[in-house]
Amino acid sequence: MSKIVFDNVRKVFDAGLCVLNGVNLKIEKGESHIILGQSGGGKSVLIRCLLGILELTDGDIVVDGISVKDPDRWKEYMKKFSILFQGNALFDSMTILQNVKFAASQINKSKDAVNEIAKEKLHAVGLEDGVFGLYPAEISGGMQKRAALARAISLEPEVLVFDEPTSGLDPITGGVICNLLKDTVQSLGVTAITITHDLRVAEFLADRVSLLNKGVMVWTGHADDMRGCGNEFVENFYKASNVILRK
Ligand SMILES: Nc1ncnc2c1ncn2[C@@H]1O[C@H](COP(=O)(O)OP(=O)(O)OP(=O)(O)O)[C@@H](O)[C@H]1O
Ligand SMILES: [Mg+2]
Repeated sequence: MSKIVFDNVRKVFDAGLCVLNGVNLKIEKGESHIILGQSGGGKSVLIRCLLGILELTDGDIVVDGISVKDPDRWKEYMKKFSILFQGNALFDSMTILQNVKFAASQINKSKDAVNEIAKEKLHAVGLEDGVFGLYPAEISGGMQKRAALARAISLEPEVLVFDEPTSGLDPITGGVICNLLKDTVQSLGVTAITITHDLRVAEFLADRVSLLNKGVMVWTGHADDMRGCGNEFVENFYKASNVILRK
C-alpha cells in the first residue's frame, strides 16, 4: 500500500477558479517526492488539501489507509504530518527555543523531556546554544529556516512537507539548507514532499518528481529521467530555467 494516495483530487474555489482538476499521485513510504510547477499553479493549494486545511471539492486523499475526509480519524491523520512553511511561520514573540518547545510539547512528553527534545533538534539542524534565547527577527533567514526545521522535526512526523524551502534565501544559503534537508530526511527515514519551482532543488532532493500543470500531474518519474523525458511542459521548464535575461 502506498503511503499517500491522491485520488482524482479537485479543488474549485468559490469564485469558480478550478486550481486542481483531477490530481492522481501515489507517494511511497520513505521516498523524497518533489512537486514541481509554475508559480500560481496550485502547489501550495495541493499541500493545504493534503493537510486538511482546505476541503476537497471532489476526490480523496488517503494516508496509510486513512482518508482526509474521515472525521473519526482526523487526529490520527493530522499527527502524521509536519510542514516547513514557505514563510517559516515562526512565532515572532517567542524565542527560538520557545518556538521549538511549543511544538515539542504537542506530543505528550514531560516538561523536562520537551526541553531536551527542543535543544537536541536545534543542535541537529546546526544551531548553537547562543541563538536559543534570540527572537526570530534577530536571526538571519537561513537560521530561521533551520529553526523552522527543528520545530517541524520535533513533532516526530512520518511525513515532512517542505513548501519552497529555498525561497527568499541567497543561492549559497539555499544550497546549505538543501543539504540539511536531504540529510535530515535520510537520517529520520521519513517520507518527504517538497514543493518547488527550482529544477536544481528538485534534481538534488528527489527520488521521484511530479510536474503539476493546469491542475493535473502531467509527468511523474524518477529525477534522473526528467531531463529529456519528452514531455512538452518538462522541456519548456528546462528551457525557461536557462533563459538569460536581457540587459
Ligand atoms: N483561499 C483561496 N481562495 C481563492 N483562490 C485561492 C486561494 N488559495 C489559492 N488560490 C489561488 O489558487 C491558485 C494557485 O495558488 P498556489 O498558492 O497554490 O500556487 P503555487 O503553485 O503554490 O504558487 P507559488 O509557486 O507562487 O507559491 C492561485 O491562482 C491562487 O490565487
Ligand atoms: Mg506556493
